[in-house]
Amino acid sequence: MTEKKIARCPGPSTQDIVLADAAPPPETFIAEAYTYLGDEDLSYDAYSSEDIARLERERLWPRTWQMACREEELPEPRDYVVFDIADESVILVRQEDGSIRAFINSCVHRGMQLLPSGARGRTALLRCPFHGWTYGSDGALKSLPCAWDFDHVDRANSGLDEVSVERWGGFVFVFLGRDPPPLADFLDPVTALDLPVPMDERHIVTHVRKHLPANWKLSVEAFLEAYHVIATHPEGLQSAGDANCQYDLLGPHVSRFIHTIGFQSPHLKSAPTEEEMLERLDRGRARLKLQPGERARDVFAAHLRTVMAEQTGVDLSAVSSTQMMDSIEYFCFPNFVFFPGISLPMVYRFSPDPDSVHRCFFDLWFLAPTRPGERPPPPPETIDLALDEPFASAPGLDPKLAYIYDQDVDNLARLTRGIRASRKPGQTLGTYQEVRIRHMRQTLAAYLADG
Ligand code: FES
Ligand SMILES: [Fe+2]
Repeated sequence: MTEKKIARCPGPSTQDIVLADAAPPPETFIAEAYTYLGDEDLSYDAYSSEDIARLERERLWPRTWQMACREEELPEPRDYVVFDIADESVILVRQEDGSIRAFINSCVHRGMQLLPSGARGRTALLRCPFHGWTYGSDGALKSLPCAWDFDHVDRANSGLDEVSVERWGGFVFVFLGRDPPPLADFLDPVTALDLPVPMDERHIVTHVRKHLPANWKLSVEAFLEAYHVIATHPEGLQSAGDANCQYDLLGPHVSRFIHTIGFQSPHLKSAPTEEEMLERLDRGRARLKLQPGERARDVFAAHLRTVMAEQTGVDLSAVSSTQMMDSIEYFCFPNFVFFPGISLPMVYRFSPDPDSVHRCFFDLWFLAPTRPGERPPPPPETIDLALDEPFASAPGLDPKLAYIYDQDVDNLARLTRGIRASRKPGQTLGTYQEVRIRHMRQTLAAYLADG
């Protein structure tokens, strides 16, 4: 593969904008890391092939660290969360010593799922609902009805199968196969990120789980680029960069975009004044005013710092403008996404629907900084949305963000349908703006090729 001239949108780059901020981040935070990865079409088979889905069950899901839950969902010993991915189902349980262990959610008697998918709660004993075999929170088999009929069962060695657990940033990860790499190696360089508000000092404020009408990869990929903003979210062009978004490939499993807010799209010709931009950001809520020479972006970031510090009790004075207000997205292969920013603090997880290659589940969380010295509040109930239920119907979700997520989801069914009708065998990607999709697919190809 020959190195090509790097394609870039003319006009101010993300670096130009962010490094001119009144409160810029360390240069290392936004250092560029782009590599040309090729320009060949990517096959559409990946989204519909049962053979590829089977290979993923064998070679992908058991060989990648999976973000299973947040620590604050398991505050006390004996608290549990059920996590499913593809055909796998796991029960994560907080132990008496504070550690977290994970057990396969399948009774050793006749395979009953011990706890339902998505369940969360607290129990000293896991009792199978079929015949009542009972396990401790350490996974050991404690008792079984009519033990006289099971003399052939070695009870001391009939506990639940266990899988590896590691934690970072308040996220709890499981590894379903053998010989896990250290989580920090797998997530490199994410665990070395120096964030002004670390991810483990945040907690869940909203969790929506939506069924999506598309393959899990198609769904992930819909969130990895800002190229679609011009057609899918045109109202966003007024106050957000899109074509000048920065894309970085940070490691084999990690990529990032930084999408600036408070600078309009390079697609729009007439430039707003800074006063007009501040009005667009503020939307008349705080009646913010500019001093001579100030930029709207800096004034709005300062406003957010003040308001959110009051709301959360967390000192945000050292948070750079980009980390305060921009859309900064880290993707961790294969299906976990987090935004370390403060005012756009989302987390995504995409999971295949084991019953259909054309469906997946999209978990969307919003996190908030945790008040210093306090424990995180109890996590909210998960809001489940069926295929036909929009994000706009989820209580507690910011209506503006719900509208944007519905725009993205509305694309997915038509995308799935259009790909089925396509005579062309694959998709044609931009070499810069869509490089994270190619990066993800190249990493996936390496996993699936490794028998
Ligand atoms: S399947 Fe669990 S007790 Fe029978
Ligand atoms: Fe979008």
